Amino acid sequence: MSPPDVVRSEAEPLVETVEIKTHFKTPRGIARAVDGVSIQIRRGQSLGVVGESGSGKTVLSRSIMGLLPRNGVIRDGSVRYQGQEIGNRSSKEMRAIWGREMAMIFQDPMTSLNPVMKVGKQITESLRLHLGMSASEAMTIAERLFRDVRIPEPTRRLNQYPHELSGGMRQRVMIAIAMACGPNMLFADEPTTALDVTVQAQILELISEQKRDRNMSLLLVTHNLGVVAGYTDEIAVMYGGKVVEKAPTKTLFADTKMPYTEALLRSIPRLDQPSHSRLATIPGRPPDIVHPPKGCRFAPRCAYVRDLCLNEEPELQQAATPDHTYRCFYPVGSPEYLERKVELTRKGELVSTGDLN
Ligand SMILES: Nc1ncnc2c1ncn2[C@@H]1O[C@H](COP(=O)(O)OP(=O)(O)OP(=O)(O)O)[C@@H](O)[C@H]1O
Ligand SMILES: [Mg+2]
Repeated sequence: MSPPDVVRSEAEPLVETVEIKTHFKTPRGIARAVDGVSIQIRRGQSLGVVGESGSGKTVLSRSIMGLLPRNGVIRDGSVRYQGQEIGNRSSKEMRAIWGREMAMIFQDPMTSLNPVMKVGKQITESLRLHLGMSASEAMTIAERLFRDVRIPEPTRRLNQYPHELSGGMRQRVMIAIAMACGPNMLFADEPTTALDVTVQAQILELISEQKRDRNMSLLLVTHNLGVVAGYTDEIAVMYGGKVVEKAPTKTLFADTKMPYTEALLRSIPRLDQPSHSRLATIPGRPPDIVHPPKGCRFAPRCAYVRDLCLNEEPELQQAATPDHTYRCFYPVGSPEYLERKVELTRKGELVSTGDLN
């Protein structure tokens, strides 16, 4: 896909979904993995997508990339890239977008790197295929990319197989491959969960630096709110296939509205706590997306639940600050929330970090 002739305004979204619904056919029925999600990412901006396992983070990213498994389909809504509808394109048509316009890095590079091909060849193949470079041109660029992602001894590394590299080095190779064709948009799906804490920070710094230097947009998926805090402009919290709260990062932390977001914040692993201490997990289980509950999807697990929450689905509400939306009848700070909080505290039923050690 060639860039449009007109220079598009920086304020216009590079990537946008409008109320998309991605469904899977399963033996139990239709799984509504993404159920009416609207997000916008402008050029050079970053969006963090957080939520527990199964909330739809990966399916959302894959819906935008056009990389859904066979049994998955975008049932409704719109996916736009630079203002053009791409939600209905075939894999063949999307191939022009992959790599050059949008690239993706995954949690475990071993599953996306070819184990029997030297990493140098994996990166040069992409350059030759997408940018039509000669073998020697591609090798020069590959070496430069390896330097960019700070892989020591790039010439030697290019000649190695994935299994000869450490987890952190493999993720750097994946980032180099993703950067090879100069994409406008990078999807990073749990890019650091398989790595130890120090390497995690280095990889996030690297992604962040590449984003800044290339004025790239970023969608960073994680289940850990603490991970995205320092690296994203905006955060969307997903629950049961829906975005339940979305706000600029600082606002989300300073003015949390959803009790679910509040619970996620309490479950951020703290680096200063002994590793054997248990996290404050959210009691209960995520909703069944084949048969979702009638009202608010979080209601069965919410400490602040009332009858209304169990019977009606909350519409998207606009908070007092701009760009801050949430789906909740009794948000944090509301009189009903405070009343219940007093009650729960009096009964000693409020779980806070540390209680579960
Ligand atoms: N191919 C598939 N067939 C049926 N259901 C699927 C398929 N892929 C995903 N799902 C379902 O869609 C829902 C959302 O899955 P998704 O992988 O997006 O979750 P996630 O938020 O990325 O979770 P995690 O943090 O574990 O990666 C889950 O309930 C999952 O079981
Ligand atoms: Mg996932």
